[in-house]
Amino acid sequence: MPIWKINGETFQVVQRGAGDPLLLVHGFPLNQSMWNAQIDHFAETHQVIAPDLRGFGGSVVTPGTVTMEQYADDLASLLDVLEVRQPVVFCGLSMGGYVAWQFWRKHRDRLSALILCDTRAVADTDEVRQGRLEMAQRVVREGAEFVADGMLPKLVGPGAVNSQAEVVEAIRQMILTTDPETIAAAQRGMAQRPDVTGTLGKIAVSTLVLVGQHDTISPPDEMRQIAAAIPDSRFVEILDTGHMAPMENAPAVNAAMAEFLSELKT
Ligand code: MLT
Repeated sequence: MPIWKINGETFQVVQRGAGDPLLLVHGFPLNQSMWNAQIDHFAETHQVIAPDLRGFGGSVVTPGTVTMEQYADDLASLLDVLEVRQPVVFCGLSMGGYVAWQFWRKHRDRLSALILCDTRAVADTDEVRQGRLEMAQRVVREGAEFVADGMLPKLVGPGAVNSQAEVVEAIRQMILTTDPETIAAAQRGMAQRPDVTGTLGKIAVSTLVLVGQHDTISPPDEMRQIAAAIPDSRFVEILDTGHMAPMENAPAVNAAMAEFLSELKT
């Protein structure tokens, strides 16, 4: 897989297809391969760019804390290195959505539209923040297995453990192969992320808000409110899926994204 140097640091990026750029930004603690079905589908019509964020997959590990702003700045630098001058459609899932808010805040001239999958606009409660900091400490000591065991049931919809064994196993492998320092750094970064609810009304690009019907991490009602606050937005609920809707029902997610992308052209 192609490796790129950004400011002397190594990033792994999948780049396929030609046409308008579509940037696919993965969730936590995953990597670009969560988008395999979208990469295959949209490489037919778009220039698809699917990076491993800092520390994830094959990209440079940065211990300590990595903020959502840092990930967003990395992506802007990546677009420079790839010489992508045209504004991109930024599609982010969950933590990828937290990064999208920061990309919009700092690099909005590089943004043509947003696709927000299974993500949140609010900051953490004190309890959630505390849980993140505890996981950050523990994962460096013990490795990622307890993270996979704890997170997997929340990432997929009910029944997926039996009916979608391949998807569940792929997610498990992504978590187990993520560097513990990266899991810790991202958790500390997410714990610091700001509440962006008050800025949603200022987002001036077309936005697709997409959520799995049974997502308990970023529930449909909460995402419906995000869509209601963004002026030019539409909301799509993907039936019978959880937080990982793009993996659990790729055909439905691809169809919703394709419809949105085709409307951008009209
Ligand atoms: C994700 O899927 O990226 C995470 O669930 C986000 C989070 O921990 O808030």
